[in-house]
Amino acid sequence: MNDLVSRGRNRIEWIRSRMPLLAQARRAFADSRPFEGRRIGMSLHLEPKTAVLLETLASGGAEIVATGNHGSTQDDVVAFLRDRGMTVFGSRDDTIDQHAENIAGVLDARPDILLDNGADLAAGVVAKGEQSTIIGGTEETTSGGVRLRGELTGSIPFPILVINDSILKAIGENRHAVGQSVVESFMRITNLMVPGRRFVVAGYGWCGRGVAQYLRALGGKVAVAEVDELKAFEAALDGYRVDTMANLAGWGEVFITATGHPDVLGPEIFPLLRQGAILANCGHFPWEIDVPALSSSASGITVLDDAIERFEFADGRHIILLAHGRMMNLAGREPKGNSLESMDLGFLLQSLSLERIATSAHELPAGAQPIPDDINREIARRMLAAMGAER
Ligand code: NAI
Repeated sequence: MNDLVSRGRNRIEWIRSRMPLLAQARRAFADSRPFEGRRIGMSLHLEPKTAVLLETLASGGAEIVATGNHGSTQDDVVAFLRDRGMTVFGSRDDTIDQHAENIAGVLDARPDILLDNGADLAAGVVAKGEQSTIIGGTEETTSGGVRLRGELTGSIPFPILVINDSILKAIGENRHAVGQSVVESFMRITNLMVPGRRFVVAGYGWCGRGVAQYLRALGGKVAVAEVDELKAFEAALDGYRVDTMANLAGWGEVFITATGHPDVLGPEIFPLLRQGAILANCGHFPWEIDVPALSSSASGITVLDDAIERFEFADGRHIILLAHGRMMNLAGREPKGNSLESMDLGFLLQSLSLERIATSAHELPAGAQPIPDDINREIARRMLAAMGAER
């Protein structure tokens, strides 16, 4: 067996062994076969946990055509999935143009159901403008939900269940898992100390709350920049320093964006940063830090390590950028992403939502919508049981 396939197989075996909720779903799907005769088109990070999700859908009869999100594809996972007979496009080094071709490849395979992350597939369907045979789909993340309800509103002719609207995902993944994995990634990529270091977290939504919480738990000094007055109020009562980014620019040593919005750190902030300030992002799109503006104002750029770049300026200062402004918790060497348990929960939400689309899409209205509450409650019960927690 080829080395890449066997490396993928072994890594996925460990992950699969710690995802009991999906194991239970695989057994149920093997009996009920909700996806029999259906082709599921997917665009989601191609990493080991996603492979276990795809196996779960395949056990329910689905044919899989998949690609990753730009920049996070793991080649051994792709090799393993291809070896299992799935059609998978993409590789770690894909350019943004290649990524667009991969998305087109998934849509050209005429899927019946979409599993989307960031609304790339949904936007592709609208851009194609053809009569769609898609019966419905799911959207994984905040930023995709924003696109579906913004630029794509009214143009999607089938139901899309937005997994991110689930309070379970918000608590289990965006808050607690992103919080843990961002701190793990900062330590893994930089090898720097957290205790006593000054961090500025941009955005006090679900992800920002978790990042701030886990940085502080390890002894970091944390400040929050938040544009929404209610969230800023919550951050202040949670005990964080709350201020504008301009006021925090000279204080922070590390800046982590978690907003889902563009240009949170841009040319008006860069001159205010202290020497050696570190910038990183955990939002879905790499637009929260204005990397093009940072590059054009720098007199030199040095790649110091896999996910560490130094931007040098004519006045002698430098700024460090992690992961080129992409999601830091899927970057660097051996990225792990969010914890296994949180993704077991998140991917059970995916699996049961896709099952609902496969069996009842005709009963749902077109466009983006939250997942039905009975799915949330069923999964909360299963998760509590898996954790041995009583209620
Ligand atoms: P959210 O909507 O709960 O929170 C975003 C917060 O950012 C809001 O409170 C908003 O007021 C604030 N904000 C917007 N513009 C701002 C600005 N210029 N300065 C300061 N604050 C600003 O969203 P959530 O769930 O926290 O997601 C944030 C991002 O993280 C999204 O892009 C989402 O797709 C992504 N995400 C990343 C994951 C990962 O593993 N890295 C996992 C889950 C979500």
